Amino acid sequence: MYLKLGYRETIVVSSPELAKTVLQKYDQTLSSRTVPVTLESVKHGKFSVAFMPVDNQWRKLRRILKEQMFSLQRLDASQSIREENLHKLYEYVNQCRVNGHAVDIAEATFTTSLNTISSTLFSVDFADFNSDSSHEFKDVVWNVMKCIGSPNLADYFPVLKYVDPQGISRRTKFYFGKLYAILDGIIDQRLKSKGTLEKNDLLEALLDLYQKPEPELSRNEIRHMLLDLFLGSTDTVPSTVEWAMAEFLRNPKKMSKAKSELSDVIGEHGVIQESDISKLPYLQAVVKEIHRLHPVAPLLVPHKAEADVEINGYIIPKNAQILVNTWASSRDSNIWSSPDSFKPERFLACKFDYNGQDFKFIPFGSGRRMCPGLALAHRVVHVMLATLIHNFDWRLEEGLKPEEIDMSEKFTTTLHKAIPLKAIPIKF
Ligand code: HEM
Repeated sequence: MYLKLGYRETIVVSSPELAKTVLQKYDQTLSSRTVPVTLESVKHGKFSVAFMPVDNQWRKLRRILKEQMFSLQRLDASQSIREENLHKLYEYVNQCRVNGHAVDIAEATFTTSLNTISSTLFSVDFADFNSDSSHEFKDVVWNVMKCIGSPNLADYFPVLKYVDPQGISRRTKFYFGKLYAILDGIIDQRLKSKGTLEKNDLLEALLDLYQKPEPELSRNEIRHMLLDLFLGSTDTVPSTVEWAMAEFLRNPKKMSKAKSELSDVIGEHGVIQESDISKLPYLQAVVKEIHRLHPVAPLLVPHKAEADVEINGYIIPKNAQILVNTWASSRDSNIWSSPDSFKPERFLACKFDYNGQDFKFIPFGSGRRMCPGLALAHRVVHVMLATLIHNFDWRLEEGLKPEEIDMSEKFTTTLHKAIPLKAIPIKF
């Protein structure tokens, strides 16, 4: 499909075959990015691993991320940090149970996700569930996500960049300014204490690279990398868990099946560990089904053509934006039976995985731009969901029936539930 959105030429690719052609055959030419005006206005686009073109600088940052953050060894080493945050989620939900309060699932998992990433990055928990001081940080990140997720006319009519008619660039500068100040403060503090207080987190590893006789990273690169990791993780993980909880509440039998698998594997009062995930095929099937039915990045992150490319007799012009519509192939009845139904069982019977090899199912993308955070997201989504269902039973707020849960979608930075899911934990 060819669309002209303002001045911007856009190609939409909606079949697995064409997704493979774009992301595998022409990966080299079709893997650039257009920097949104909001990110340009705060000078993030140029330094962001998610928005720079595929060049040596991008390769360097992806390599450092892989080695210092997402390698098996690093993820295993930071596991205890995530366990602590899961325990806090458990305690918060348990408190709601005792008080008979409903839990806003997206908000609770957003807090856990933010803490998980901030403590993995620099050993700081930013967003306590109840403390006022943490609200400011949560508020800043939330608003940054909102600014980035707002459709901006200036992206389609460049002349509007200078007018900023929706005030998005103005708001973005304000909230990014606050976030930059927080990150700079953390970097300064760590540089001062370095050598006296050894920490085992990503910031320590990045500062080691910065302080080498021939630095591998600049301070500015560190700041933007930390920012990318926040932006990549804080919305995607909570949205996925919220969709899963909504499907479970609409399908109580499937929730019971997942709960009983958890009881069998970790015991009735056991605590889930990341190493348990491989023993939980039904839970894994649930998470895959959620990624299929409710992909949080339904068009991936838009790609850009570096040069004209001819596919099936059509030209994808240089600089065109390419949207890979994974939402469409996930709902295609020629590929999936009853595609609109929540049926985790379909993934028990087939070997589909989201490692970018099966183009019918690429919620994390494929090829060189594929999500670098997949391994972390895989762990966190499973254990967060398991914590919510293994320790508690859930009921909906007064008068609401499972089939009445509003499942409409809203697209900002991710495709999330338009109406936040609230549910009451009732026992454990
Ligand atoms: C449910 C969780 C997640 C999903 C579904 C997801 C999905 C995606 C998708 C579809 C892309 C774009 C692929 C493309 O353009 O072809 C992407 C890129 C990216 N993701 Fe994720 N992601 C998730 C979690 C995370 C986490 C936890 C992090 C980091 C902590 C992260 C960091 C990034 C970054 C930095 C990029 C840009 C990569 C680049 O352009 O080179 N993501 N993700």
